Amino acid sequence: MISADKIAVLDFGGQYTQLIARRVREMSVYSEIFSCTHPIESILAGGYKGIILSGGPSSVYEDGAPLPPKALFDAGIPLLGICYGMQAMGYLLGGHVVPAERREYGKADVELRGSSRLLRGVEPDADGRVAVWMSHGDTVLRPPKGFTALGATPNCPVAAMADEERNLYAVQFHPEVVHTPQGRKIFDNFLDICGVGRTWSMAGFIDTTVEEIREQVGRQRVLCALSGGVDSSVVAVLVHRAVGDQLTCVFVDNGLLRKGEAPSVDRTFRDAFKIPLIRIDASARFLDVLRGVTDPELKRKRIGAEFIDVFEETARKQGEIPWLAQGTLYPDVIESVSSRGPSATIKTHHNVGGLPLTMPFKLIEPLRELFKDEVRRLGELLGLPPEIVWRQPFPGPGLAIRVLGEVTPERLEILRDADAIVQDEVRAAGFEREVWQAFAVLLPIKTVGVMGDFRTYAHVIALRAVMSQDAMTADWARLPYELLGRISNRIINEVKGVNRVVFDISSKPPSTIEWE
Ligand code: XMP
Repeated sequence: MISADKIAVLDFGGQYTQLIARRVREMSVYSEIFSCTHPIESILAGGYKGIILSGGPSSVYEDGAPLPPKALFDAGIPLLGICYGMQAMGYLLGGHVVPAERREYGKADVELRGSSRLLRGVEPDADGRVAVWMSHGDTVLRPPKGFTALGATPNCPVAAMADEERNLYAVQFHPEVVHTPQGRKIFDNFLDICGVGRTWSMAGFIDTTVEEIREQVGRQRVLCALSGGVDSSVVAVLVHRAVGDQLTCVFVDNGLLRKGEAPSVDRTFRDAFKIPLIRIDASARFLDVLRGVTDPELKRKRIGAEFIDVFEETARKQGEIPWLAQGTLYPDVIESVSSRGPSATIKTHHNVGGLPLTMPFKLIEPLRELFKDEVRRLGELLGLPPEIVWRQPFPGPGLAIRVLGEVTPERLEILRDADAIVQDEVRAAGFEREVWQAFAVLLPIKTVGVMGDFRTYAHVIALRAVMSQDAMTADWARLPYELLGRISNRIINEVKGVNRVVFDISSKPPSTIEWE
């Protein structure tokens, strides 16, 4: 993999940086992300066939705005600037960059002009326009010398520009997001311009990663916190493939899992994969620290801290284990801490951006660059069973953030039973792989109902089902009415204490997937 042709992505802190790297990988070209603070000389010496400058939250005029050294543009390597990357290119090469009259977020239509290798095969509609996704404050008003403007929107006079001679290209919009339908073509063209071979594959990723883990770890032992979800499972199998029984997995049952999940983890890893597994039943401890807690952030903090305590206690008993393998994925990384560049932190709530363990572990995070669907493909290639590969993403704090308000054993039980019905019915209707996540949420209110001759005053379950590619954006799933009806009937009839089911029809953003 490393010897194959590769592309560097310079991260200026944009929320879509990893999507850029991913689009490149989808075209069978290996790509690596570097912080914009990484020394440019070492990137230039790294043999990259092209460099993409990402978007970012800064304005080129701001004090301390991250700007690459000008030498980058003279290196003779094809460059593609995206959004902030374009503004940086425009600004540094002597163009005119100004704050846009109106900030522009969302769909826009670019009117193309001129021709460029970058836009070859990008087909305008009958009105000569191409749909794109914009998200910017500043805009290039006049391109630098040597550049041609390739398109405009009413609010953005230079929506794309190119200096064909120097192989410098830039777009103000985001070709990496799905809302720019012809964005892939733009990457495809850029890769052609770079002259890269298209030889990278997920199977190759396994080989290289296994090799890298072996080299890193040598004869030392590795610990892995297994949650039973697809990410940590893939990591466990990958590391096991690399170092065999030097790997020990710890599965902390926090009592906040879905129905039947804890024993199933045990069966899969201990029995089917023969991976050494220590299972700790810590339900009581977790319930204890959650008593009286209603604030979502506090729940996460308490659960995170307790997890660390239990995990460290267990790890200490294992003797000397210097390495910790984690299934951190890219969306977890950007939604928890900005780890690579000056990414604007979108959320702080995810408890996965590297566990703040007090034990001095060295980290192995082989999935750090990947998105969920890429991890699933990896899982399939590694021979994981479909029920794990296709297990829906499940938050670390588990059902605790779906029991809104205080988490008590009784309320957990109600949610767990309702959720099991949701899982059952969604699976039976064939929607399990269609939806990104579908689950029940127990609301912190009661409503009036009537059962038989009696008035009831009982719990409400909200049903949440979303379609998504990577959890960064999500749309509510249009589940068939019959399925919704069945789920509602069954929950109200079978789960004691529930007399109402509602369906959540909000998308992310502005709503999140979880309710807490
Ligand atoms: P939101 O609710 O932020 O969720 O739209 C995005 C994705 O992340 C999951 N999620 C979490 N995962 N710890 C996790 O490990 C958390 O605290 C957490 N909160 C949300 C959520 O299920 C969805 O897949």
